[in-house]
Amino acid sequence: MTDTTRARPSRRRFLAGAAATGAIASTGFVPTRFAIGGQAPVKVGILLPYSGTYASLGEAITNGMKMRIEQAGGTLGGRPVEYIAIDSEASPPQAPRHTKKLVIKDQVDFLVGPVHSGVALAMAQVVAGRDKPIMIIPNAGANALTRGQCARNIFRASFSNWQTCYPCGQVMADDGHKTVVTMTWKYAAGNEIMAAGTELFKEFGGAVIKDIRVPFPDVEFQAHLSEIAALKPDAVLAFFSGGGAIKFVKDYAAAGLKDSIPLYGPGFLTEGLTEGQGAAAEGIKTTLHYARTLDTPVNRMFLEAYKKAYNKEADVFAVQGFDTGSLLLQAIDATEGDTGADASPAMIEALSAAEVPDSPRGPWRMSEAHNPIMDIYLRQVEGGVNKILGVASRDLEDPATGCKLDT
Ligand code: PHB
Repeated sequence: MTDTTRARPSRRRFLAGAAATGAIASTGFVPTRFAIGGQAPVKVGILLPYSGTYASLGEAITNGMKMRIEQAGGTLGGRPVEYIAIDSEASPPQAPRHTKKLVIKDQVDFLVGPVHSGVALAMAQVVAGRDKPIMIIPNAGANALTRGQCARNIFRASFSNWQTCYPCGQVMADDGHKTVVTMTWKYAAGNEIMAAGTELFKEFGGAVIKDIRVPFPDVEFQAHLSEIAALKPDAVLAFFSGGGAIKFVKDYAAAGLKDSIPLYGPGFLTEGLTEGQGAAAEGIKTTLHYARTLDTPVNRMFLEAYKKAYNKEADVFAVQGFDTGSLLLQAIDATEGDTGADASPAMIEALSAAEVPDSPRGPWRMSEAHNPIMDIYLRQVEGGVNKILGVASRDLEDPATGCKLDT
């Protein structure tokens, strides 16, 4: 449990901050609290995709996060919130510039982002080890971020790529398949999710007969689907997400493969997308840490509130945004609103011990490597919805290989 007494900001710290304000105001320093009158807003920098194939993910995460903070009164630690959002375009080459703008120029207290693993790795290069900001990843699963490149001020509210599909291998083996072709976008998330999904499959004696890789974010699948038809594997394991996943699942069915070669993958392939995919999605089995159909009071309330607020159905990305909001609240509650650089250790301590009992995905807790420990569900599309067939892996924790934190 967090030691809340130690986490409290000291009066000395506030006074020192107030005294220093006048002296360094010209350097762009923003005081945590104004000496007289109102309170300075907490700055939350956001780097998420609002255009391109992952645009819907960025929007759902933002909505979920804001909804959580609104539910808590619309403030963080009693202070108003200023969101400074940049469209990442899911583009790794642009990520260092955007991250530096938020961290150095805007001096954000918290940095929320991104969706894309490559963008996340680039952001971490800028952020890791700083006292400020604290970075909360609401999606990107790059394994390294909570393994060899873990950092004291970086936390994940989502998943490691490994977690989302590690149980896939057993599911395919249990269904009697012996050969598989993998197909995904050629970048960290695709490669890592496919590696995780075939790990157990190979242990059970299965063989991967071909790894097909498509440049991100291309959606020209036709030639590859013809190759799959010729290879005739028992099953296909695929990762696509957002707009690309809608097209992939439809193209797969249109190529006539749906009934002869069953499709598996992480739940991103179908979660929140079944309306757009229609009949093409029926029967697809996936594993994920959430399904809209999760029948718990917390999830039902979440879905209803999200629908009311945004006139849209929530999905796993909205959940991850919502949980990001919960982490922001926990961090700043630990310092009663203080976000000065010397308040960071207390916020980091609170986040390191974070538990999120009220998550729509089910309760989860933070691992020592700053990644969720959570249940992974087995789901199958039936009647246009992802039905939960069971828990594929309970309390799944990423192996966190090579993570050494200095605090
Ligand atoms: C990632 O790039 O880490 C990523 C993107 C979209 C997903 C999952 C993972 O749905």
